Amino acid sequence: MTSPAAVPFPHVRERNAMGLGSSRLRYAILALFFFNVFHILFAPSYFNFDDHSSTSPPQHFDFLSTHSTIKHLSPAHKLSRLERIEGDLARARASIQEAIRSSNFAWHDTGSIYWNPRAFHQSHVEMLKRFKVWVYEEGEQPLVHDGPVNDIYAIEGQFIDEIDNSNRSPFKATHPDKAQVFFLPFSVAKVIRFVYKPRISKSDYDPDRLQRLVEDYITIISHKYPYWNASMGADHFLLSCHDWGPRISYGNPEMFKNFIRVLCNANASEGFQPSRDVSIPEVKLPKGKLVQRNLSKHPDKRTILAFFAGRVHGNIRKKLLKRWKAKDDQIRVHEYLPKGEDYAKLMGLSKFCLCPSGNEVASPRVVEAIQAGCVPVIICDNYTLPFSDVLNWSQFSVEIPVEKIPEIKNILQNVPKDEYLKMYNNVRKVRRHFVVNRPAKPFDMMHMILHSIWLRRLNFRIIAS
Ligand SMILES: *[C@@H]1O[C@H](CO)[C@@H](O)[C@H](O)[C@H]1NC(C)=O
Ligand SMILES: *[C@@H]1O[C@H](CO)[C@@H](O)[C@H](O)[C@H]1NC(C)=O
Ligand SMILES: *[C@@H]1O[C@H](CO)[C@@H](O)[C@H](O)[C@H]1NC(C)=O
Ligand SMILES: *[C@@H]1O[C@H](CO)[C@@H](O)[C@H](O)[C@H]1NC(C)=O
Ligand SMILES: *[C@@H]1O[C@H](CO)[C@@H](O)[C@H](O)[C@H]1NC(C)=O
Repeated sequence: MTSPAAVPFPHVRERNAMGLGSSRLRYAILALFFFNVFHILFAPSYFNFDDHSSTSPPQHFDFLSTHSTIKHLSPAHKLSRLERIEGDLARARASIQEAIRSSNFAWHDTGSIYWNPRAFHQSHVEMLKRFKVWVYEEGEQPLVHDGPVNDIYAIEGQFIDEIDNSNRSPFKATHPDKAQVFFLPFSVAKVIRFVYKPRISKSDYDPDRLQRLVEDYITIISHKYPYWNASMGADHFLLSCHDWGPRISYGNPEMFKNFIRVLCNANASEGFQPSRDVSIPEVKLPKGKLVQRNLSKHPDKRTILAFFAGRVHGNIRKKLLKRWKAKDDQIRVHEYLPKGEDYAKLMGLSKFCLCPSGNEVASPRVVEAIQAGCVPVIICDNYTLPFSDVLNWSQFSVEIPVEKIPEIKNILQNVPKDEYLKMYNNVRKVRRHFVVNRPAKPFDMMHMILHSIWLRRLNFRIIAS
């Protein structure tokens, strides 16, 4: 597969047929109600977790019940697909609301790493009970239904393999009518590898080819099936860890207006929208393995205050290395590790692990640090952290603004011991959310990714026109 002509599904000429021009009118008569209630609920600034008002629910809930559009139907009425799906989602929302209200909730083990442990726990339970993903069958490997399962884009292939190919996932819908969301099983990493060949001149990097592929795919499935048109793409998603993932939607923003983009590269300055899109961790998997070696040491044995080793790319790293490279015994910053030193071992020996953005906002270091029991120090601009819809990152990480890079040593030295120990223990608690299992297990990374998508889906209701 070397040329774009060999793309495994036909190119549709009218690539702007959807989302633009006359189809806009048709869209206007469809009703898509966005609630953002659960976004509000889980989000830090709107939900006050300390407010244990178990009798009076937060006001956002009434919004849902008083605006309920589910009609009372006669028993003879055969429910349409959307009525069934939306009725079921309404029950899930109600259970989550109920769990938040109930005062006798018993899920104390991890408590404070979540914005709202009750909401998250019940939401996860509801997800296990009901969530179904339809994986479109169109397209052929290697661009579709396939992805890398190792190295830094591993999550693309692992997710596709888990949900699509393994045929073991309880989340995979057996019929599209049963699904609440629809997955376009593209791997951007594979598209770049197989379509962008050869790469000689600048135009060989033109994102247009990638955009055309995905747009054509959408055109095909939206003509063949009713699902895309019914929701204007709002219940459709694509997952990408590759740097180019966000570019998919640049060519035709109208088409992707509601579409859920599940991305490692969650750069808010590049159009990442936390209430619609999903931020997922970048995880670097060794060949044939799902975990890094565990060289995590007890806090008392962690003799290094802060550690970083990595190549210089991007402005943030330039600043970090300029100030700290090989300058301080306690702030161990390397571009290349000295011979005989072991990366994973050094992380296990450090209290804090510096995770600066490089050319892209996400870095596999965050997951590596968490697995090594090392408190991540996030140094970034406008990066929406993974799973930050449910996780309170400040409970298990430190955020240092780019302009404070020169003060890293002061800032970290001044973290009180008990505060550090609290974060260390929370890193251990949050670790299960950053572990890849095959098949997936409750609360692991795969489930967290699915939960993020589930949560976006809970936030709107689709009504037939
Ligand atoms: C979806 O909408 C497009 C554009 O309006 C239309 O061409 C297509 O036929 C519709 N699909 C179905 C299945 O009706
Ligand atoms: C890693 O090793 C440490 C120390 O031996 C141990 O306490 C910890 O539970 C291990 N972590 C995992 C995830 O296996
Ligand atoms: C995020 O996006 C902005 C705008 O395109 C860009 O300037 C910045 O470098 C990006 N951040 C990273 C770390 O890539
Ligand atoms: C981050 O976002 C803010 C607000 O949108 C913007 O003003 C700023 O330039 C962004 N920073 C970078 C590095 O893109
Ligand atoms: C999130 O964590 C911070 C820092 O530990 C804490 O001050 C704050 O109260 C937490 N927020 C919620 C809603 O739990």
